[in-house]
Amino acid sequence: MLNKSNTRTDTHDTEARITALLSEMTLEEKMGQLTQFSGFYDVTGPPPPGDREAQKHALLQRGLIGSMLNVVGYDDVRAFQTYAVENSRLGIPMMFAYDVIHGHKTMFPIPLAEAASWDLDLIEKGARVAATEAAAQGLNWTFAPMVDVTRDARWGRVMEGAGEDPYLGAVIAEARVKGFQGEDLGSPDTVLATVKHFAGYGFAEAGKEYNVAEVSQVTLFNTILQPFRDVLENANPRSFMNAFNTINGIPATGDVELQRGLLKGDWGFDGVVVSDWGSAIEMVSHGFVEDGREAARVAMTAGSDVDMESYVYLDHLNDLVETGDLDLELIDDAVRRVLRTKFELGLFDDPYRYLDRDRESETLMTQAHLQASEEIARKSIVLLKNHHGALPLQQGERVALIGALAADKDAPLGNWRAHAEAHSAMSVLEAFEEAQLNFEYSHGVHVQWGDAGFEYPVHINTDNWEGFDEAVEAARQADKVVLVLGETARQSGEGRSRVDLGFPGLQQQLLEAVHAANHNLVLVVMSGRPLVLSWADAHVPAIVQAWHLGHRAGRAITDVLTGKENPSGKLPMSFPRSVGQLPLYYNHMNTGRPGPKETVVWAGYSDVETTALYPFGHGLSYSHFVYSNLAVAYHEGQIEVQVAVQNVEGPPGEEVVQVYVHDRVASIARPVRELKAFKKLSLESGEYQALTFKLKAKDLGFYKADGTFAVEAGEFDIYVGGSSCAQLSARIRLSSEDVESLV
Ligand code: NOJ
Repeated sequence: MLNKSNTRTDTHDTEARITALLSEMTLEEKMGQLTQFSGFYDVTGPPPPGDREAQKHALLQRGLIGSMLNVVGYDDVRAFQTYAVENSRLGIPMMFAYDVIHGHKTMFPIPLAEAASWDLDLIEKGARVAATEAAAQGLNWTFAPMVDVTRDARWGRVMEGAGEDPYLGAVIAEARVKGFQGEDLGSPDTVLATVKHFAGYGFAEAGKEYNVAEVSQVTLFNTILQPFRDVLENANPRSFMNAFNTINGIPATGDVELQRGLLKGDWGFDGVVVSDWGSAIEMVSHGFVEDGREAARVAMTAGSDVDMESYVYLDHLNDLVETGDLDLELIDDAVRRVLRTKFELGLFDDPYRYLDRDRESETLMTQAHLQASEEIARKSIVLLKNHHGALPLQQGERVALIGALAADKDAPLGNWRAHAEAHSAMSVLEAFEEAQLNFEYSHGVHVQWGDAGFEYPVHINTDNWEGFDEAVEAARQADKVVLVLGETARQSGEGRSRVDLGFPGLQQQLLEAVHAANHNLVLVVMSGRPLVLSWADAHVPAIVQAWHLGHRAGRAITDVLTGKENPSGKLPMSFPRSVGQLPLYYNHMNTGRPGPKETVVWAGYSDVETTALYPFGHGLSYSHFVYSNLAVAYHEGQIEVQVAVQNVEGPPGEEVVQVYVHDRVASIARPVRELKAFKKLSLESGEYQALTFKLKAKDLGFYKADGTFAVEAGEFDIYVGGSSCAQLSARIRLSSEDVESLV
């Protein structure tokens, strides 16, 4: 019997403690540790058939639930924890998990938006704030960060990741994990991070939610797995979540090579692998297993430790072991992982360590947290286009602020809004009022009717023109129009794949009519994904990408519009000219026929430019930055890239200096260029800075189809600039000896 009041465990004897505890556990109790139940307050997946709710107390009492999700707050968490600890035979505490994706109570920009800041310190700080708030509400496990590389904006979940680049995705994931887990997981203001979805979910074919991922081994190793591998190596996340999709016909949850072979074997991961919601039982629908019993056997064999909402471990593990169909050692290994994280969280010292009523009331939505959210919101905005100095707004200009989204206090909260209060963000309208701008507001057309819950469809307005004419008239009367269009919070996110990436509902018609009434137009786009902005790009002088920016969205947007904030965001995903280009990404292959364009027989389309409308890394500023003096040389085992950047015109500003590499000839075709380093610089007006980047072997090498890593001698082009279209380049030739001496 576990001593329920035992003292803090020394890390050295944790394994011994686990072994001792394991030896006391019945098979049924072990299986309980591997089962995760939803509290059913918020459903974040399809509820299982039958009444599992009724079972819950009985299961808790028998120690048959190891962790719960979607139970939040001092009272509820304490009630469940007390019940489990006091009533079960061994009193093993539970972990409490929640999707704290871009904030808990204080909403931060959606992850795709935060990625546009390229500001790793602020991203880490955002995750730290989220962890502090979540932990103050009794939680100790978040299902973030999502590190799926995403190249297809039709997939609604692009909002939850860091975009299309594996390197940027990896360093951002590291920042997030550090923010969530802090210095010490045992401290009561940190939470276990979960990197997800392992693996390939971001490549859902045709952007269709939950679809198969058709990927080559080279793409799997170099693109999909890179952020997972790097984040594990550099930030030690204590949990991984597997994925809904199949690769090579194998559902991730049942993929023994990926989970047990690569992750737990080659990479040495000793934390917990949790299934995605129902992903074990979904192997039946995939046609991969016949029934729940087989699903349990296959998932456990593959290395999926915790079953979230499939109930197959609960229902079948006992029998599988008793009949000899499953090795008890596999179950012991999974339980050991769960217990290890509970020790790391300090739950065996004090199951209630996350519960403190004062901390709960003092920690949520503090001014400091709102300030942190505002700070990164400002840095996440991307100025896509700014012709003829349309922005910033000039003092005294009479502005017509138009659009339902301009007054929307809910859309900026984004889809994964955790425990935020609905309709609690600062709108653009409120911020315009606060800044005392000279403006009139006109609502224009409704975008959506009513609020949609996480799992329900949104009702887009396609036929009610109320407000349309008034908005056009307001545009006509004004010196300048600021038109806010885009998606509401639930139009992107899980289950929100779309094939039409224009403005939903009647918004395109509104845009065209407003533009006809007044060409002096600034378009602010709120969205959870890249939209197709081709018409706007051809007609509108200034376009601002404002995503879903969290609680202080309105003020951040207004600060950029007025010039109080000099925009510095850079796109983490390419914006297409047409949906037909998707998937679209800058680090594509050259093909055998990259050009020239004068004939039709080259790699492209005959009805649209091949390039992105706004490429990865693109983002303007009110300042003008000039790059010069690029030099690349081999020096003591590293490649040194030197470059100078000057803010030649405009106010003080920030520029993200990006370094791309192209391996010109290799044993497999390599992408046209790949991001390998970047630095966000702050430059005063006129200021000039020289900087040096150091590239290592890992930046020049690649994985072959068999999973081996190679760095090959030959020529490399290095491009440096303010976007993935950077023109400044230099070439370096590396001999076999150089390559061998690279660190
Ligand atoms: C399903 C999602 O795919 C996953 O990311 C999330 O963490 C779980 N539901 C739990 O809500």
